[in-house]
Amino acid sequence: MPGRIPENILDDILSRVDIVEIIAGYLPLKRSGRNFKTCCPFHHEKTPSFMVSPDRQIYHCFGCGESGNAFKFLMRYERLDFPEAVEALARKTGVILPQDERHQSKTSGLSAQVYRINELAAGFYAGNLNSPQGLKPKDYLLKRGIKEETIHGLKLGLALDRWDSLINNLRPKSISLDLLEKAGLVINKEGGGYYDRFRNRIIFPIFDIKDRVLGFGARVLDNSLPKYLNSPETPVYTKGRHLYGFNLAKESIRENDFVAIVEGYLDFIIPYQEGLKSIVASLGTALTIEQVRFLKRYTHNVVMVYDADSAGELATLRSLDIFIEEEMNVKIVSLPKGLDPDSFVRKYGVAAFRDKIINAQNILDYKLGILKSRYNLKEIEGVAKVSALMLETIAKFKNAVLKSEYLRRLAQELNIREEALLQDLHKVKTEGPNSVAHMTIHRRVNSVNPTEKLLMSLMLEESSLINRIRDTLDVKDFQDERISRIVSIMFDLVDQGKAVEPQILMNHLGDDISELVCESVFLPQAASESHKERVVDNCIQRMKSDRMKLERERLHEQIKSAQALGDNEALKRLTEEFHCLIKKKAGKV
Ligand code: CTP
Ligand code: MN
Repeated sequence: MPGRIPENILDDILSRVDIVEIIAGYLPLKRSGRNFKTCCPFHHEKTPSFMVSPDRQIYHCFGCGESGNAFKFLMRYERLDFPEAVEALARKTGVILPQDERHQSKTSGLSAQVYRINELAAGFYAGNLNSPQGLKPKDYLLKRGIKEETIHGLKLGLALDRWDSLINNLRPKSISLDLLEKAGLVINKEGGGYYDRFRNRIIFPIFDIKDRVLGFGARVLDNSLPKYLNSPETPVYTKGRHLYGFNLAKESIRENDFVAIVEGYLDFIIPYQEGLKSIVASLGTALTIEQVRFLKRYTHNVVMVYDADSAGELATLRSLDIFIEEEMNVKIVSLPKGLDPDSFVRKYGVAAFRDKIINAQNILDYKLGILKSRYNLKEIEGVAKVSALMLETIAKFKNAVLKSEYLRRLAQELNIREEALLQDLHKVKTEGPNSVAHMTIHRRVNSVNPTEKLLMSLMLEESSLINRIRDTLDVKDFQDERISRIVSIMFDLVDQGKAVEPQILMNHLGDDISELVCESVFLPQAASESHKERVVDNCIQRMKSDRMKLERERLHEQIKSAQALGDNEALKRLTEEFHCLIKKKAGKV
């Protein structure tokens, strides 16, 4: 896995970073004994099972099995490839990477190549808008109220009305069609050959927080369908992981401690251009837990701005419960019928839009408003239905004060006793649809021989024990392939006079194997200090006798088949072997 970056440099970087500090930059860590814990950022959960060890400098999630060292965390959380993660931490720690290695890390790696191609493509599209063919499309944008400087700032562009203009433009730059396809920019024809994915459309590049081009949205210039085409999933673009405009809005979001979330490209562009800078677009999909957690690092105050049609949907409202679960404040603006943020701002101005946002309704009031218009509160069934739907949301609040306050208000609104609501509240299942996601997570660590596992964790805990074990056991004595691989690397590290630390071990292991190492770090101590050696000796003994037993069984089988075949020569040899084995056992190895 380490590629061409020398191992001693990787070790050096790891010895200078503190994984606790790094992870705490992204997630709220709470102390738990010697370790820290928090809710796992890689799967949805309500009870923390994500552990970070300051002693061993690794993390492990007992819920989904995700685990590793500081490099791995950055790779997973920031979606970097290995060389990029190394580079980020090298910069942070002041470790200097060999010149050519750094060059290599910039140009190698599929992600890096896709970013580069996206950048080139964005440049090509932007250029088209200033070409003669761009006159009408540019006019379309201006007519929609997008100013020249905004077009420039957002690097908006144009895909020409041809099947191969991007292909032809990038071909002289020696970029393979295969890579272009991986970047989602061209499509492979069934009969062979390629063609441009985006044609005759306005191009909206989608940037990440570091201003790299992740992918593209592309809008038709008329009323044809589909209105928008988007990049497919690529090594750098995953739907539901990014928010359009975040790179531009982030400072303002932090400063104002608030963010407005809209749905479409234009809904971001027009208000932003007119001066409302704390704004991002979800690009038409329901918000994901990743997007919400991402925003949470900048602000806890969110205002969702919907057009009238989508805002009336209960499904839309339910999707907001995710904010409540994340203990964020979420409010809602519903725009007048027929208007979205883009057209609202053009019609009434950004000040009126800001007003709407300031007067946004709290989610419970808002939900109650919708429910009241749907159910008849003069009938007892109506009241029961409304209260049940309201309790679904109230149950999601973790804060007891908020919960009881909302309960009190609901009782007042519906004119029923608070105790009755409270009783029903206890019946509401708080798990919801997320628990399904929870259950489908695969646990990959399947059963491992407990003796071998114990020995491995003892070696990890106490490297002085490694030699004791090595004197009597061979790598091959470990039946479990993964443990055997771990042990062999530990032996190698000892040979090289290096410290055997989990975080360093990790650089030599694949994900499924390193998970085993990480997990063992957080399991209860195998034995107290003084007992460790005895435990080791017991384990070795047990492994030897296990192996002996296996060998006996194997010989026994062979003897039986030799008898059946009447192969006397083999029978003689095997019987001798068998007696040897018995004697060996009597002599205790
Ligand atoms: N969207 C999409 N694919 C579609 C339709 C919509 O990806 N076929 C996404 C786009 O990100 C779009 C957002 O959903 O910006 C909102 O869709 P919609 O309200 O239909 O479009 P607008 O953003 O209002 O587009 P415009 O104002 O340009 O008509
Ligand atoms: Mn619109």
